[in-house]
Formats: sequence, structure tokens, C-alpha cells
Amino acid sequence: MPFHWSSTLLRKGIPGSGLIRSLTQKSIPFISSILRVQESEECLTIETNNSESYSYPFLWLRDNCQCPQCFNSSSQSRSSFLRDLPPSVKPSAIQVKGSGLKAQITWNDGHESTFESQWLLDRVFSDHVDKQVGKRSEPTVWDASYKSTLMTFDYEEILTKKSTMLEWLQSLDTMGLTMISGMPPEVKSLPTLIEAVAFPRSTHYGQYFEVIAKAQPNNTAYTTSELSLHLDLPYYKYKPGTQFLHCIKQFEGQGGDNRFVDGLKIAQILARSEPKHWNTLKTVPVTYWDYGSEDMVGRYLKFNSVPTFELDRSGRRIHRINYSDQVRASHQNVPLAQVTPLYQALIAFSQIANSPQNCFSLKLSPGQCVVFDNLRVLHSREGFTQSCGNDHEPQNDLNGGPQFPKSRHIHGAYIDWDEIESRMNVLKLEKQD
Ligand code: OGA
Ligand code: ZN
Ligand code: ZN
Repeated sequence: MPFHWSSTLLRKGIPGSGLIRSLTQKSIPFISSILRVQESEECLTIETNNSESYSYPFLWLRDNCQCPQCFNSSSQSRSSFLRDLPPSVKPSAIQVKGSGLKAQITWNDGHESTFESQWLLDRVFSDHVDKQVGKRSEPTVWDASYKSTLMTFDYEEILTKKSTMLEWLQSLDTMGLTMISGMPPEVKSLPTLIEAVAFPRSTHYGQYFEVIAKAQPNNTAYTTSELSLHLDLPYYKYKPGTQFLHCIKQFEGQGGDNRFVDGLKIAQILARSEPKHWNTLKTVPVTYWDYGSEDMVGRYLKFNSVPTFELDRSGRRIHRINYSDQVRASHQNVPLAQVTPLYQALIAFSQIANSPQNCFSLKLSPGQCVVFDNLRVLHSREGFTQSCGNDHEPQNDLNGGPQFPKSRHIHGAYIDWDEIESRMNVLKLEKQD
């Protein structure tokens, strides 16, 4: 049943259409007029005046009926259930309403759905899966030369300008490593920043953690020893997505510097020049563990077995990298014959990671905070020589948290990518309004 669908008002004032447009990077068709709509066995097809056609399966249309019975506009959630959807649902009539702005479908079970034209056009299907809704940016892979152009943002500006907050989070997305400067070296600064974005991702080390040399450390970070290049918490199945390290006090002698390397660079080099190791690192799991006790949870004992490079379903994108000498377990879940090849591949990984061409070092000053992708960028810390003991115990609580006047003191926290993506989506939406 072909019909004419006038579209003079297609781009005006339809709630929700801006939301999706702002979250998609792919161009969404703006159509000046729709010539016809046709019905096939399974789909409604819209033909446009520029010879494009867009098809919408009946099952999808019915599942996405926007009527108050099927969709709760307050919670923006579906209230109809697939269990009640007849698999052979079909329109018995289609009518154009509102001067071509709406299509009203009467279904063969008598139910009625009305779809705004722009709403449909924002949701076109194609032969390829190329929608960008909720997708992350393409990463920019870097080497040691990134040190000279390290994306740096001012703390106050992030807190007061939404455009700066968005720019910073987008840099974090593409580069995986950013610096914040002008962040007062006090323990209240990091919570202010974290809560401006979302909230901290808790772990058994707490919502926030104090990296200082402690008398009875339950983590190598809480000593003066070197931490080799690593990603935090690989023993978590859902490991925190991003990490914040805010320098409150730096060690003034030699040591205490951090190094950073882009794990995607390591992957590129391995994939090109060491295909055997690359294959091992994509497939063979390494077991990580953490054992100890913290006031908040008491004793903890965690294990996780994961390949060094975890790829997504397409097999083309790395979505999580795992490596830490500190917490690699002695129990390993691999067949005997794979142990030596696995170690050889891990050694190749760590040699590439440590190459001065790929990794760079910087010594944080009080007031600086590095923020990086804990699924992608490896970080390390040089050892230092400060003694630990009573001088380094908390002295007061005036600033909303413990103070460690004599120690190197890094204040740390994590935020999950889900929260950062959500904040970016909302900031993009607000920019558009
Ligand atoms: C950590 C860590 C670095 C530092 O706590 O995970 O890597 O500079 N700390 O102390
Ligand atoms: Zn409905
Ligand atoms: Zn770390």
C-alpha cells in the first residue's frame, strides 16, 4: 500500500531525535521528502526522493511501539514484553497523519502504533552494522613522543566549564592518558573532580586510596619499591576502567617518577613483528590474584584468568589489556606445554613496553593528576628511598581526610568507563540543546 509522506516538518521539534543524533557520529539521513512506503513480507519500506529506501521489520516496529501502553515516557523504558508479541504480527492498515509527520499503523491484532517520521529516520537499519550509538572514539595510538604533547587540562576549568570537561573526557577516550594541572594538593580535590564526573568505582582498597609507604603494606604500591609497568587490578573480572593518580606530595630525592606506555602500541608492534607471541597473548589466559586484608572488607582473595589482550567480538578491537608483574599468580591455568611459550610472549610484551621509544617518564609535581585508561595504558613507578614508619602515619583530619606530611603521597581513585561514556553523552546532548 504505497502512500505519500510529506516531510516539510521532518526536522522540527521531535522529542528525542536530538538525543540520538548527538550520540551518533555517522551521518543520519535528513530526507526532504518520502515518495512511498511499501510493505513486503516482513518489512515496511520507505522510499525517499533521492532514491534511498529504508526498511523497518514489523517485529521491530511493534516492539518499539511508542504508545503509553507499550512505552513509559517517564522512565524511557519499554513496558511491553516480547512474550506477548505475535511472531507473525503485520499491519492491517497504514495511514499518514499530521501532514506527513506521522505514520499510524493498525496491526492485525487491532493494536495501534504511531511513529514520528524523524524518530524512524534516526533509527535506520542498513546491511552493515555501522551505527555509532554509544560507541567509543577511534583511539589515537601513541609512542614516547606523546610526552611533549600530553593533553593537559586545568582543574578549575574542568569544574566550571562543561565544554572543557567534555574536551578532557574525549581526550581521555582517544589518547587514553591525560594530565590535569592546578589541582590543589589536598585530599579533598580528587573527590571534587570525581564527583563532578560521576562517582568513584570502589574496590577492596576503598573508594579512594592513599598511595604512601606504609609500615605493613598489603600492596606493593604502599611501599617505596619500584612498580614495573602494569595495569591495575587485573584480578577483577570487571576491572575499573580509568585511574586517577593525584600528586599531593612528591618524593624530593631521586625516584618516585611514573612511566606510561600505550598498550595499543605494544599490540601493534607485536601483531606486525611477532605474530606467534601476538597470537599467544590474545588467546592464552594469565591468572592474576590478590590476597590480603583491608578494614572495609576484611580478608580478600581474588583470582582472574585473562589473556593479555582481550579482543571484542569482531576480533578487531582490543577492549581490555591485562599485565602486572606484581600480581601475576603462581597458580596458572594453562597446560604444561603452553607455560614456556606464554612466558616468552610475556617477556616480549614487557620488553616492547619498556623500550624508550614507546614509554616515557614524568615525575608528578604536587597539584598534578594523571588520568588514564586502565584497560589500555600501562603505568609504573620508580622506587625511592624514603623510610616508612610513624612519621608517615596520618597526622590530622582537617582537610576531609588523612594527611601524611612527610611522605610521598599520591591520592588515587577509579571511575568506570560506563560512567564516563554516560557523562560524555550527556555533555554532548547539552551542547546541542
Ligand atoms: C598504583 C600505582 C603509582 C605511584 O597505586 O597502582 O601504580 O606513583 N601507583 O605510586
Ligand atoms: Zn503500543
Ligand atoms: Zn598502579
